[in-house]
Amino acid sequence: MISNFFSLAGIETSFRLADIHSPVKVGIILTEKCNLSCIFCATECGFDQNSYNDIISPNMCYEILDQAHKNRVQEIIYSGGEPLMYKFDDLINILEYGRERKLKQTIISNGTLINDDNFPILENLVDVVSISLHGTKDTHNKITCSDEYENTLHTLMLVSNSKKISGSILYTLNSYNSNYQDFDHVVRLSKELNMELYVARGNDLGECSINESYPVLGNLNKIADRMTSYNNDGYNIKFSNCVPKCVLSTDNQYLATSCSAGVGICSISPRGEVRVCLQSDESLGVISNENSLSEIWQNKEIVNFRNMTNISPYCASCKDLMHCKSGCKLEANGIYQMDTMAKLKISEKWEEILGKKARINCRELKITKQLFWTISHPICKISINYLEVCKSLMKKRPVVLNEILNCSDEQISQKDIIMLLVFLYEHNLLKFYS
Ligand SMILES: C[S@@+](CC[C@H](N)C(=O)[O-])C[C@H]1O[C@@H](n2cnc3c(N)ncnc32)[C@H](O)[C@@H]1O
Ligand code: SF4
Ligand code: SF4
Repeated sequence: MISNFFSLAGIETSFRLADIHSPVKVGIILTEKCNLSCIFCATECGFDQNSYNDIISPNMCYEILDQAHKNRVQEIIYSGGEPLMYKFDDLINILEYGRERKLKQTIISNGTLINDDNFPILENLVDVVSISLHGTKDTHNKITCSDEYENTLHTLMLVSNSKKISGSILYTLNSYNSNYQDFDHVVRLSKELNMELYVARGNDLGECSINESYPVLGNLNKIADRMTSYNNDGYNIKFSNCVPKCVLSTDNQYLATSCSAGVGICSISPRGEVRVCLQSDESLGVISNENSLSEIWQNKEIVNFRNMTNISPYCASCKDLMHCKSGCKLEANGIYQMDTMAKLKISEKWEEILGKKARINCRELKITKQLFWTISHPICKISINYLEVCKSLMKKRPVVLNEILNCSDEQISQKDIIMLLVFLYEHNLLKFYS
């Protein structure tokens, strides 16, 4: 159950995410090795190849594929590191094994190691090949710290010409390619090659957290505006990873995507560790004969994650929670953190109001049996923990909002008070005075 909330307005609590018994998609990290060193890489695999050189054993893959088949998993996503760094003969045996079990198979690759010789073998065994391309030649090479643009382009052409598989381009948005020149270039290519284009917003993970490549809110909305403008002209460009509705401007909110980590998808590391998604480092259990995927999928920690037990009160009060699932909960190098873009959005809103004088703007405020305050118009419930904050907003004289930050006891942090004030602001529950 969701706890520590400001409000439950509009949230459907009867559907229990915890009851989902197996993932729909399983990602397998074949290897943590990579031949590139992308500046935003969440797995940081290109940076210290000696410390991240694990590869999964074929036997572990067969075990995962058997269990996936038994649990009616629909799709296996082979990723890495770079999956084509995996020994090619072993990769083919694994793909054949998955094909025999009628699993949909997708490879995500940087495209540099797929060529005229190995592609005809691959295209008989997989359903989808997704290739990462991040901009014009100069930008792509700069971002990937390589000179591989032409090779990647050649692979895109092989995929595009294939009659057997479908392909897509993955554009990972970061501070180096948040401009129209790079984006338009990749959009044009996707049209020429007749391939779907997905934009992943760079997540605040791994290298992206530490080297200034995080795309930030303004850049995300700039590219979202461009996506909308293309989509209005008949394109169908989507985000591939989760982008919360609350961080997008109104015209772009139809592009919002949900986080399916730990709900519909999981990922398995080279050591057989089950993780909530490809970007996570946290092991939830190691797959073996005695410890099956479905058992791990229902352990307490992952059920709590699925139930969003530890999400911020700001998200717990959001009417879009069931769709969004609180955005990326792994950002800022932690499990169960708040989505970094959503945090940036709250900071921006707080900047707008922090020096202003305000009072609470409602007709009725009362304590209910469950210790929650009910504010009428709109109806919402606020945890009793925020009582002091609300009281200071009810005084006859309006208060300067940043002065309220020190008014509560240690039960709630200043960060939570800011979230409450922004929440009230966004729901027209603050009346401002000059
Ligand atoms: C980790 S890579 C592995 C497969 C392959 N090496 C490749 O680059 O396509 C899978 C996808 O994740 C994207 N990615 C890497 N770091 C990311 C980050 N910090 N946030 C969001 N996506 C990221 C990559 O651009 C790529 O499209
Ligand atoms: S994003 Fe892919 S290609 Fe780039 S360093 Fe990471 S694993 Fe390698
Ligand atoms: S659940 Fe949280 S991150 Fe998602 S839209 Fe609502 S407030 Fe934003």
